[in-house]
This record gives sequence, structure tokens and C-alpha cells, in this order.
Amino acid sequence: MIHTRIKELLNSTDFGKTVIVKGWIKTFRNNQFLAINDGSCLGNIQVVIDYENTDERTLKRLTTGAAVSVEGVLIESLGKGQRVEVKASQISILGDSDPEKFPLQPKKHSLEFLREIAHLRFRTNTFNAVFKVRNALSFAVHRFFNERGFVYIHTPIITGSDAEGAGEMFKVTTLDLDNPPRNDDGSINFKEDFFGKSTNLTVSGQLEGELAALAFGNIYTFGPTFRAENSNTTRHLAEFWMIEPEMAFYELKDNMDLAEELLKHVIRYALDTCSEELDFLKNRLQEEEKSKPQTERSELDLLAKLNFCLDNDFERLTYTEAIDILRRSKPNQKKQFKYLIEEWGADLQSEHERYLVEKHFKKPVILTDYPADIKAFYMRMNEPDEQGRKTVRAMDILFPGIGEIVGGSQREERYDLLVNRMKEMHIPIEDMNWFLDTRRFGSVPHSGFGLGFERLVLFVTGMTNIRDVIPFPRTPNNAEF
Ligand code: 4AD
Ligand code: MG
Repeated sequence: MIHTRIKELLNSTDFGKTVIVKGWIKTFRNNQFLAINDGSCLGNIQVVIDYENTDERTLKRLTTGAAVSVEGVLIESLGKGQRVEVKASQISILGDSDPEKFPLQPKKHSLEFLREIAHLRFRTNTFNAVFKVRNALSFAVHRFFNERGFVYIHTPIITGSDAEGAGEMFKVTTLDLDNPPRNDDGSINFKEDFFGKSTNLTVSGQLEGELAALAFGNIYTFGPTFRAENSNTTRHLAEFWMIEPEMAFYELKDNMDLAEELLKHVIRYALDTCSEELDFLKNRLQEEEKSKPQTERSELDLLAKLNFCLDNDFERLTYTEAIDILRRSKPNQKKQFKYLIEEWGADLQSEHERYLVEKHFKKPVILTDYPADIKAFYMRMNEPDEQGRKTVRAMDILFPGIGEIVGGSQREERYDLLVNRMKEMHIPIEDMNWFLDTRRFGSVPHSGFGLGFERLVLFVTGMTNIRDVIPFPRTPNNAEF
């Protein structure tokens, strides 16, 4: 007989039926009541042991973390806290767990502690909920695009180009670093790398995505991307997943509309399909908020916050308009921003982004038309404004509690302008002919954006550290397994 998953049992009314349960012990009380979880849901099934007919040795091995298989009859529970339970007739231990050594005891553990045992944290309710929501969001992304006829394109992980031109790449090397080939000045000759080519882990699939969009029309990528920036923050990973749609014939407004629709679609999907997990995460967050002073507590609970995002249009404004607001604002009565925006052209810091979203507009914001100097080479140049200032058709979406969740733009489709800009920004044009061919042969206006998947999972789960929404976080101090 095949075992039944606990999620199914908890909803069953087949009383009197013999069932097999397999899972891991959460607790064992009074030598009689086992709480077993098998990962199918957050709830445990209670198993009642006939301790008089169970040998002492087996009873001793029923410890937190041990894996068991139980055969018994499903009965209505008379106890408080559960509707059904299993009256065990046979119990076998599949895998022991030494209670002196198993780190997940039945009590609340801090997220910091659990991060140190990331290989075991899957077994906690919090991480069960977080990774189920992550799974649902990932499915919703694919569903959204496939329903709209977008083609999923797999872009390479190993690449010769720096899509963002920001120099934050991890080198991929086949060189013998103990005895590498050297240039005349003694530096390592990476040009001889990867069978004669210098290569990196991709920072973005966008450029390859553009090639496909100029053939298929609408495409998207969804894969791991890598940034070798040394930022130890709660919003940055060295390895993160990005969703990058790219659409031929889309202008900036169409791009913004699609991004807003995508975000609302996937958040709604999580609300519709993960109610058990989101309720759990909402309560968890409320417990945490209790330790904060009243003034710092959030006005909305997690579900209200997600619904609010669905029910309101995102605020859309230009960088220049945002700068005017920030210059006129004081974050609170006494304090100034830590970094003052001295002049037009300065990049926004996360305190500015969060001020706009959390204090000024109190909803998601799309900022457009950033100064050309602070954005990537591929963004479409606007006509200079009356004061001769140069902006590009960029769009960043800022979310409450997160800051930037999406970065995108209309692309520069005009060959001459693109090449000029690449020269200005010292992008090696001779290595980029494959990319420039899109502008040589049948170039069209097109647009796209990148949604940081972990930042989306952070927002939907209400978790506060990006290391807690990816199973195996890669940060400057963390690449153990
Ligand atoms: O703004 P970014 O760097 O844009 C691009 O890579 C474009 N090529 C996207 C495109 O137009 N196709 O990154 C896009 C998003 C950010 O808004 C952020 O959500 C996320 O990726 N992101 C990170 N997430 C976690 N850790 C990091 N180090 C991240 N860097 C960017
Ligand atoms: Mg960005």
C-alpha cells in the first residue's frame, strides 16, 4: 500500500480506513502522541501510539527529526487542535536522529541561526512556507508569459560579454592558476582563457534575449544571473534569478504596462494558491512586529499589503520629477537624508527610493527617463531637455520595503546612436558584432526589463533578508555548499 500525504489526510473524512503515513517527527509527547510532518503542508498529523504494545527500544528512537513510517487507522480526533489523527498499529523507524545532535529542536529558532544550518532549514515551517511561495511564483511567471504567447528562451550562463557594462563579472577560468600564461607585464593573460576566449558568468540574459525578440516578437528568460559586487546587504546576492522579457515593437509605456501586469498577476496567483503559507507568514511577521516600537510597526498586515498592491495603479513619474520631490522633502521632522541629492544627475540611493514609495506615494512607483550617465549603454536616448540634459528611456519599479524590484528600458534601436554610445562608454565594439547585427538587419523599436526574482519573493513572503528566500544563498561570505 502506498503512503498517503499528510495534506490529504488532514482534509480526509475516510474514518476507519487503514493508512500509511511517512514523514519526520516534530514532537513526541507523553510517550503517546507523535506529531509528524512530511513537507506536503505546514500542518502535522497526530499519531497515537499504543505504548503498552510498543517495545521500549522503539519508543526511545521516536525523537525529533527521526523519519518514520506508520500504519494505522484514520480516526476522528477527540483532542483539541486537530480534526483527525492516526491510531498506529505498526511503526517503523526509517532513519534515526540523535536528539543530542539534531539542531532543530521544537522551539522557535532565529533566522540567523537557521541561515547557519541552511542545509536543514527546509524542515522548518517558515522555510517550508517561503519555498512553497517561491515555487508558486515561479510557476505563475511561466504561466503569465505562456498565456500571452511569449517564448521561453534559455540564454547562456557562460558568456563573453558584460551585458550591463558594469564590470561586476565572475571570471570563468580553465587556466591553471598555479601556473597561468602571463602578459609581458607579468599580469595573467586571461585572453587565453576558455579555449582562447575570456569568459564570465552572465550578469543578464538581456542581450541574447534581444536577438531572439527580434525574431520571435515576444520572449522571456528566467535563469540564474551572477554579480561579483561586494555588497553585503539584505537586498543583494552574488547569484540571483532574473526574469527578463524582451518585446519587439514595444515602447516604454507598453513595457511599463506589461511589468505592472506581470507583478499583479503573480502576486494574485500567490494569494489564490498559497493561503495556508501566506497566513502563516503573516502571523509570523505580526509576532516579529511586536518587538518593534509602536511607531515603526507596519500599518498593514502582509495580506493587506499584497492586496493593496493589486488594487492600486503604480505611480508613474520621471526621474526629474522625483528629484524635485526629494529636494523639497524631509524624511522626518528633524533628519535629512543621509545622502543629499545635491544636483540633477545623481543616482538615487535606497533611502530616496524608499522615501518615495513608503512615505510620499505610499504605493509602488515607476521612475522613468533617468540621466543617461547613470544607466547602461543599450537604453534609448531621449531628445535633450530645454536645459540640454540627456536622459534615457529607462524605467525602474520601486516597491515598499524592497526598493528597486525591476530595472528596464526601451532599447536604442538606431545603429549609429548605439555605436556612438558604446564608444563613449568604452564597450568593445569589435566583440559585439553579433549584437549590433540586430541593428544592422531589420532593427525595430523594442523594450524589455529584468525582474529580480528573490526581491519579488521577499515582497510576497514579507521576509526581510534576501538570504532567507533562496534555498542556497550566495553572498560574499557564504558559498559553503
Ligand atoms: O537593474 P538590473 O541590473 O538590470 C538588468 O540586468 C537588465 N539587463 C534587465 C533588463 O532590462 N533585461 O537588474 C534587474 C533587477 C533589479 O531591479 C533587481 O530586482 C535585481 O535584478 N537585482 C538583484 N537581485 C539580487 N541581488 C543582486 N545583486 C541584484 N542585482 C540586480
Ligand atoms: Mg537596476
